[in-house]
Amino acid sequence: MHGNPSPLTARRSGPLRGRVRVPGDKSISHRALILGALTVGETRISGLLEGEDVLNTGKAVRALGAHVERTGVGAWRLHGVGVAGFAEPKAPLDFGNSGTGCRLMLGTVAGCPIAASFDGDASLRKRPMRRVLEPLERMGAHTLAANDGRLPLRLAGARDPIPIVYEPPVASAQLKSAVLLAGLAAPGETVVIEAEATRDHTEKMLIHFGADVRFAPHGPHGRRITLAGQPELVPRPIVVPADPSSAAFPLVAAAITPGSDVILEGVMLNPLRAGLIDTLIEMGAAVERLNVRIEGGEEVADLRVRGGALRGVEVPAARAPAMIDEYPILAVAASFAEGTTAMRGLKELRVKESDRLAGTADMLRANGVTVEIDGDDLFVAGSGRAPGGGLVATHMDHRLAMSALVMGLASAQPVTIDDGSFIATSFPDFVALMRGLGADIAS
Ligand code: S3P
Repeated sequence: MHGNPSPLTARRSGPLRGRVRVPGDKSISHRALILGALTVGETRISGLLEGEDVLNTGKAVRALGAHVERTGVGAWRLHGVGVAGFAEPKAPLDFGNSGTGCRLMLGTVAGCPIAASFDGDASLRKRPMRRVLEPLERMGAHTLAANDGRLPLRLAGARDPIPIVYEPPVASAQLKSAVLLAGLAAPGETVVIEAEATRDHTEKMLIHFGADVRFAPHGPHGRRITLAGQPELVPRPIVVPADPSSAAFPLVAAAITPGSDVILEGVMLNPLRAGLIDTLIEMGAAVERLNVRIEGGEEVADLRVRGGALRGVEVPAARAPAMIDEYPILAVAASFAEGTTAMRGLKELRVKESDRLAGTADMLRANGVTVEIDGDDLFVAGSGRAPGGGLVATHMDHRLAMSALVMGLASAQPVTIDDGSFIATSFPDFVALMRGLGADIAS
């Protein structure tokens, strides 16, 4: 259960300065726990994100029979049960606010001969699960009870999983990953054909643990991914790099606050996640990649960002998968730019932790910025400054909450959010980290 709503207010702040490291990547952290649980032997993880979403995934894999232990800050040790080795859980699995945890675990359970009940908070109960259940049923799983394809639901995994060739109807790494995770338990090859490539952390981590995963290009933006089923996954250490989706908040805060100079250490630059950095550079932001290196199998860099003028740009729909979680904070940056920013192809934003397309537009309007939604496109008319002064409804959505607070740091009047408690799902130390850079955020 979540605590009481906790309103927060961000006020115009002096230059932001300092060198910080944001927490570990949320996508990789979920996958480290799930895939670690499917190895045979001990997996050590460092830099794990200890946000509520990931902790809920940790509880779920423990309830399914893996041994999960915290040995220090961000340091975890797992003893896996092997592919398809999960035991039937005694109680419903509660994924809280997390679509990723829930959908990836639906896929994993679909490949095990057990039944499990899945549930989540009021936000997660509204989100579509049918998109995942449909291919999992083709692979031999059965949905025993589901409320119109939503949580709470009960899934019986396949006794003899069937490998499939699957073309996801939407660009979704969660959907792709659910099918690949179920495919681990199937004999033969499971194939996912993506029209638009999405984040490839599941594939990369499977390869890291010894699975045979092959890629081929598919069309102008897509990929064909082939997984050889029933591998023995061999434990290897996992180092989780800093989350670019969390770095996005101090990054934009520094870019829109005059005189700022901030370094964000070790931020993951996976090209399928780096759309915001490319867009900010097109807008004229002073973002430099320093000390580019490989950490935990991913390219990372220290990002230096300085405050300065921004201009409106066109953000093509083809870039959406590489920055799908960054549109609310990009819309904040666009509010402080000169000219209109057009963000195209945002349909999937409607089914995130909230309807983020509507929530982002409402956030800007509440703070005196002109915005328009036309179909799946969002237009923000920037005028170099934002009045602020609004009260923002965050709808149980951590990214709307952090985006609105960043807005308040550079707008003329303070910005208040109705509830900051969901920030703990992905970035528990957000307020402290931002204060350390000079941000004025208070309850
Ligand atoms: C994620 C995939 C994306 C993203 C989410 C994390 C993942 O969701 O929005 O925050 O870790 O696979 P979709 O697969 O629904 O696009």
